[in-house]
Amino acid sequence: MSKRSFQGKTILVVGGAGFVGSNLAHRLVAEKPAKLIIVDNLLSADISNVPADPCVDFRFGSITSDQILQKLPDTINFVFHLSTYHGNQSSMHDPLADHENNTFTTLKLLERLKDVKGLEAVVYSSAGCTVAQKTFDEAKPTTEDDPVSLYLDSPYQMSKIFGEFYGNYYWMRHGIPFIKARFQNVYGPREILGAGQWRGTPATVWRNVTPTFIWKALHNEPLPLDKGGVATRDFIYVDDIVAGLMACATNGEAGGVYNIASGVETSIKDLADTINRLTGNKAAVAVMEARPWDRSGKRFGETSKAERELGFVPKVSLEDGLTRTVKWTKENMATIERCVAQHARYLAPQKAAAE
Ligand SMILES: NC(=O)c1ccc[n+]([C@@H]2O[C@H](COP(=O)([O-])OP(=O)(O)OC[C@H]3O[C@@H](n4cnc5c(N)ncnc54)[C@H](O)[C@@H]3O)[C@@H](O)[C@H]2O)c1
Repeated sequence: MSKRSFQGKTILVVGGAGFVGSNLAHRLVAEKPAKLIIVDNLLSADISNVPADPCVDFRFGSITSDQILQKLPDTINFVFHLSTYHGNQSSMHDPLADHENNTFTTLKLLERLKDVKGLEAVVYSSAGCTVAQKTFDEAKPTTEDDPVSLYLDSPYQMSKIFGEFYGNYYWMRHGIPFIKARFQNVYGPREILGAGQWRGTPATVWRNVTPTFIWKALHNEPLPLDKGGVATRDFIYVDDIVAGLMACATNGEAGGVYNIASGVETSIKDLADTINRLTGNKAAVAVMEARPWDRSGKRFGETSKAERELGFVPKVSLEDGLTRTVKWTKENMATIERCVAQHARYLAPQKAAAE
């Protein structure tokens, strides 16, 4: 039984044009809110992701903009803060841009929210990778109260945890009902390769392993396996992440933190084999060197707290989720190719240099 409901409420989704944010926005529209405000500067998103519904009020710009912040209503019931400078490699290439679009977004948003009335929950998308132990030995499930290392691999990871620090402070000092949802590796429809602006490295296009593998497999290309694909991750389908975010908002405890994870450990090699099977890709996998910066070996999330306190149980198996994502990718290939093509002039010289 949910403690809070979205019907007739005013909801703000920051980063709501992005992959997870847009899936959340589409799902929230069905809850019949009075108003769903989306703030997004389209840095890593395509406008086609934003739902076309009369309750949706899309505001183009950065959540760090004073003008955008001042024009937010004085009463907002739910906030989902999903904006980020996507992702680890972009943040290493440009730590200042990461600060501006990651850490600073959280601070400026919270400063504004301290004057907003009616807040029932402010849900923050944090990252399990920040907390996970750095190991290639056998992984133990990451729990919510595992310690956080002071030696993180990227500005992105630091920004995600600074967001938790700021949110905890604003909860303790100003009573903002801040709730942390720590994601594992999300995959699924509406993750558009190349969406948004060039952010300095090919990771602008090749965002995450799952959409990259699916795109390459559908183009009959070999799937690249860093370190032979021995690393493991906890892959969670986007509908499950959306359900977890909504459960944080309706049932989460202010000041609390919840792993929103599948709890299932899958190797990158197994992911590649499954995607090749589902797409009929016959190209052999390509074994690559390990990425020098990446010490994240094997990891997955512990899910019992979210189940116990939120009633959250992931429903979609990897096989089912990948099947749905392959289907979506085929159906939306024109949009994906358009977004990838916007970066051709940046990618081409890098490709030529590598050859
Ligand atoms: N996808 C994953 O596997 C994963 C894992 C762990 C955590 N997360 C977190 O979940 C959230 C959503 O991730 P995603 O995969 O949907 O990424 P995404 O890049 O698709 O979405 C981020 C959105 O934030 C927007 N944005 C960037 N800077 C902004 C700014 N200054 N003001 C307003 N909007 C801005 C982008 O344009 C984009 O729409 C992020 O906070 C991310 O750190 C994601």
